[in-house]
Amino acid sequence: MWGGRFTGGPAEIMEKINASIGFDKALYKQDIQGSLAHSDMLAAQGVIAAEDRDAIHRGLKEIQEEIEAGKFDFKTELEDIHMNVEARLREKIGDPGARLHTGRSRNDQVITDVRLWLRDALDGIDDLMRDLQRALLDKAEQYADTLMPGYTHLQSAQPVTFGHHLMAYVEMVARDRGRLADCRKRLNECPLGAAALAGTSFPIDRHMTAKSLGFDGPTRNSMDSVGSRDFILEFLAAGSIHAVHLSRLAEEIVMWMSDRFGFVTLSDAFTTGSSIMPQKKNPDAAELVRAKPGRLLGAFISVSTMMKGLPMTFCKDMQEDKEPLFDAVESLTLAVAATAGMVDDMTARPDRMMDGLKQGFPTATDLADWLVRVLGLPFRDAHHVTGALVAKAESKGVDLADLSIGEMQAVEKRITDDIYSVLTPAASVASRMSFGGTAPARVREAVAAARKDYL
Ligand code: ARG
Repeated sequence: MWGGRFTGGPAEIMEKINASIGFDKALYKQDIQGSLAHSDMLAAQGVIAAEDRDAIHRGLKEIQEEIEAGKFDFKTELEDIHMNVEARLREKIGDPGARLHTGRSRNDQVITDVRLWLRDALDGIDDLMRDLQRALLDKAEQYADTLMPGYTHLQSAQPVTFGHHLMAYVEMVARDRGRLADCRKRLNECPLGAAALAGTSFPIDRHMTAKSLGFDGPTRNSMDSVGSRDFILEFLAAGSIHAVHLSRLAEEIVMWMSDRFGFVTLSDAFTTGSSIMPQKKNPDAAELVRAKPGRLLGAFISVSTMMKGLPMTFCKDMQEDKEPLFDAVESLTLAVAATAGMVDDMTARPDRMMDGLKQGFPTATDLADWLVRVLGLPFRDAHHVTGALVAKAESKGVDLADLSIGEMQAVEKRITDDIYSVLTPAASVASRMSFGGTAPARVREAVAAARKDYL
């Protein structure tokens, strides 16, 4: 393979540790796409003949068909996808095939391929993330008035609507999409033509190949082009953040599906049974989404540790970027799609959410606010009075609204019957009209704005 310089072949273990064809064959389409653009440019610049270009194009198209028909014989001794495709091309068309690699190296070739591959993957993931936002928005609209307990520290805090809760995730996904769009913007520069590391003496036109491959332009420095992988790290970082967000919703679905909460149900389509316990309906998809950040964060750690301290420029270490990247993309794709599916499938149980609101005194803040608003108490004093009323209700085992006016007045004699009007979850939620608040009217506005801005 290495022509004149070598007389002996590699040790078996050398071949084994060196080969990447087992996983980088996933790049075949981008590799062929890159070679088509490169040979076009070489011909346009007069570096190769037009007939050579035509033969190269014909050969590459046939190779793509062979691969897609499962008829291509991938060879480990040819190391990687680049050498496999090129060797086959030479086998098919002879001399013109041997001219393809003019003014190019596998170093710029591989990273052009990976950028093209990740760009496509990012577009696919963004579509799925938009689907997820749409699913969340539909449910948020449907449940804009549905009351549920809002939690801090997983302790009952204040009533919210289920729609408002779901809208929180719409915002998280919006920022995640922004981070990934940023990553796409930065990766969309073409390294092809950087050659091994120093550029090339052939009169190539890097702007032409960049344009024909859909890049915004060529990368500016040939050494950076072949020696950097931060676009992969950026994807893994932003992807990890998104996976973490998905895992939080997944955890909530698991919790909401539990007997204790019972806030939502998932249909048979998103649950599994037990091989021994006939009553079971387990939220396995949610649990797997909850688990996926491990893969994304693991990939970030793998690739950043692999890159750490590497001298410029290309080192074979960098071949190890692909498996974590491919796994991260697959994991994230599955997680987003499964989450969108679960959200679509999910049915709320407002009765169980109301049961939840009967515990933990979620309208205590409304009571304190009433004392401030109506009696003019300083908030800290109102907080104290309310705390005493909560303690009284707790010792009697009743809700705040079940205390008699006499019991209330024993703590603060100026309290009137009017106080009961703020102690229902519906009144509490309706009063939260501040921008970004949980009042159903605000939730509907937020849904409309998000549909306009995010979908
Ligand atoms: N298979 C290699 C990779 O995945 C391609 C680049 C090889 N370049 C080299 N000079 N050995 O990174």
